[in-house]
Amino acid sequence: MADEPETERNTEVTMDEIVALAKRRGFVFPSSEIYGGIGSTYDYGHYGVLLKNNVKNEWWKAMLTDRDDIVALDSAIMQHPKVWEASGHLAGFTDPLVQCLGKCKKRWREDHLREAVEAEGGDPEAELRCPECGGELSPPRNFNLMFETHMGPVAEEGNVVYLRPETAQGIFINFKNVLNFARKTPPFGIAQIGKSFRNEITPGNFIFRTREFEQMEMEFFVPPDEAGTWYREWIDLRRDWYLDLGIRPDFLMVRPHGADELSHYSTGTSDIEYLFPIGWSELEGVANRGNFDLTQHQEHSHEKLEYFDQKTGERYLPHVIEPAAGADRAALAFLVDAYEVEEIEGRERTVLRLHPRLAPVKVSVLPLVSKEGMPEKAREIMQSFRKAGIQAEYDAGGSIGKRYRRQDEIGTPWGITVDHQTMEDDTVTLRDRDSLEQVRVPAEGLPGQIAARLATGWKSPKLG
Ligand code: GAP
Repeated sequence: MADEPETERNTEVTMDEIVALAKRRGFVFPSSEIYGGIGSTYDYGHYGVLLKNNVKNEWWKAMLTDRDDIVALDSAIMQHPKVWEASGHLAGFTDPLVQCLGKCKKRWREDHLREAVEAEGGDPEAELRCPECGGELSPPRNFNLMFETHMGPVAEEGNVVYLRPETAQGIFINFKNVLNFARKTPPFGIAQIGKSFRNEITPGNFIFRTREFEQMEMEFFVPPDEAGTWYREWIDLRRDWYLDLGIRPDFLMVRPHGADELSHYSTGTSDIEYLFPIGWSELEGVANRGNFDLTQHQEHSHEKLEYFDQKTGERYLPHVIEPAAGADRAALAFLVDAYEVEEIEGRERTVLRLHPRLAPVKVSVLPLVSKEGMPEKAREIMQSFRKAGIQAEYDAGGSIGKRYRRQDEIGTPWGITVDHQTMEDDTVTLRDRDSLEQVRVPAEGLPGQIAARLATGWKSPKLG
C-alpha cells in the first residue's frame, strides 16, 4: 500500500460548509425532509442536477466523443438473479457487521473500526470497542449489501430479484450483443452510467457514501497480453480527467491496492483518491479484472462469450480493465475543490471556482435597474444564449452586489450587466468570477464570446 502524501488541506473547508452551501443554493437537499428525513439519502436540486449532468457529460465526452473504441450501453437495474450468482455478489458482496452490545446498540463496519484503531497505532484485537459509547461489540457477521425485492405481485422466494450493486455486470452480460452489432475488435470498451444500490452499513459524509448512487463505469476488453499496458494507460487517463477539470494536483493521488485489499476478481487495482475534508478517500477505482467476469458468465449461462480473432484464428476470453467512478462522489470532489472563501475589500465572498465546463450556469445576465429598457435588453441577450444552447440565467432581484454574490456561490464563471451605457452604445460589462475583472464588450455576438471562452482552456486560479 502506498503511503499517503503529507499534504494537508491548505484551503479550509469542512463538510458542514459544503452541506450548508449545497442546501442554501439548491444543489443538494436531504431527502424526505418534511417527514424528518431518511438517513443518508439526498435529492438533487436545480444546480445540483446541472452540475451532475455536466460531470456525466464530461465523462461521456471522454469515453465516446474523444475516441472511437468505446460504445455506450444503458442496461436494466433489475437483472436475472443468476447474474449475481455468477458475479460472486450473492456469496461475497458482504461487509463485516458488528453491533454494540452496550448502551447505544449502534451497528458498525468492523473493518473500518479496525482501520481507525490501527491508524492511532493501537491493537485492534485488544481495543475494538463501540466508538459511540465504548460498549462491547458483537462478533462480526457478514452482511450482504444487495437490496432485495420481488418481481411480480406476490412476494415469495422464487421471484427474488436484486437492485444492481454495480453497473458493470450489465455490461458483461451484453458483451455478446455488442460484439455482434458493433463489429469491434479488442481492445474496445463498453461504457455505462446509471444508478446502483448498496445497503451500506455506515453510509455518511453527505453524498460521499449513500445507499443509492450513480456510477460511471467502463469495461475495456483487451487481448490478454495487453492487459498490463491498458491498466496503466487507464490509470493515467482517468487521473488526467480530474486534473483537466480543475482538481488541484496536490489533492489527487493514485494509490495501488495492497495484495490483501484486492477484490476477488482483481489482479490489480489502483484507487484514484482525493483529499476530501474527511481525509484521503477513493474517488474512482481502476481494476484489472482479468477474464474473471466473462469466464463466470460463460460458465453460468452456458453461452460462449469468447472472441474469435479472424486474423490469427485464435479464440479467447478478453481481459478487462475497468475504470469505475461515482458521479455523486465526483460532483462532491469538484464542489469541495472549488469552494473558497476570500476577503474582497473588507467583505467576505464565497466562491465556487468550478471549471467553466462543469459550472451549472455559464453566464448570468443582470439588468442594473428594472427600468429604462434594461430588463428588455437583458431578456434579448438571454434569448441569444438560449438559441446558442448556452445555460444562462436572468437575475433581476436585489442589489447588483447581492446578485454577483449569488452567482459566485453557484460558480457562474461570467456575469453580464446591462447598464445605462448599454442603452447608449450597445455595450455591456463582462465580469470574470475568478479575477473579478470587468471589461466592456459589445452586446452583439455575446454567445460567440462566451462559447470561445468555454472552448479555450481554463487557467485555474487555484494553481496560483
Ligand atoms: N464495478 C466496480 C465497482 O463497483 P467500487 O469501487 O465498488 O467498484 C466504484 O465502486 C465507484 O463507485 C467508487 O469509486 C465510488 O466513486 C462509487 N461508489 C461506490 N459505492 C458508493 C456509495 N455507497 N456511495 C457513493 N458512491 C459510491
